[in-house]
Amino acid sequence: MIRYKKEYLSKLFNLIGLLLISAMLVTACAADSTSSTSVGEQTFDLETLARYDGQDGRRAYIAVDGVVYDVTDIPQWQDGVHQGRFSAGKDYSDAIRSESPHGTSMLSRAEVVGVLVD
Ligand code: HEM
Repeated sequence: MIRYKKEYLSKLFNLIGLLLISAMLVTACAADSTSSTSVGEQTFDLETLARYDGQDGRRAYIAVDGVVYDVTDIPQWQDGVHQGRFSAGKDYSDAIRSESPHGTSMLSRAEVVGVLVD
């Protein structure tokens, strides 16, 4: 009788252990997916992007190919203006290729802050 009880108890503890491990795994996965969507995944449309023009202390963001970059701390984008004629807060997907000599190569200097949606 006592042996059966011991076996029953050890099976019960094994089951509880398994349940605990599963719960921990599920929590870890859930936390992971939340953080990967929240970090650097702010969503902008052209109207909200336009608010980040780098003027009067506001941050300076630009979009290229659906990705929004923070150019606030880049010296060439001081006060949200680049080369005296490109203002932050806009989508430069076409102009960065047609008007700049550096193309998209300079984008790696800027931090990604989100995505541009229609
Ligand atoms: C992360 C974004 C960007 C960075 C870090 C960047 C950086 C630079 C740098 C380092 C130069 C060399 C001249 C200088 O030192 O001032 C330059 C020149 C230039 N960039 Fe950008 N740029 C960026 C985005 C853009 C965009 C979006 C455009 C416009 C579509 C653009 C257009 C130009 C033009 C026209 C020049 C002048 C080249 C010349 O006349 O010699 N850039 N940029």
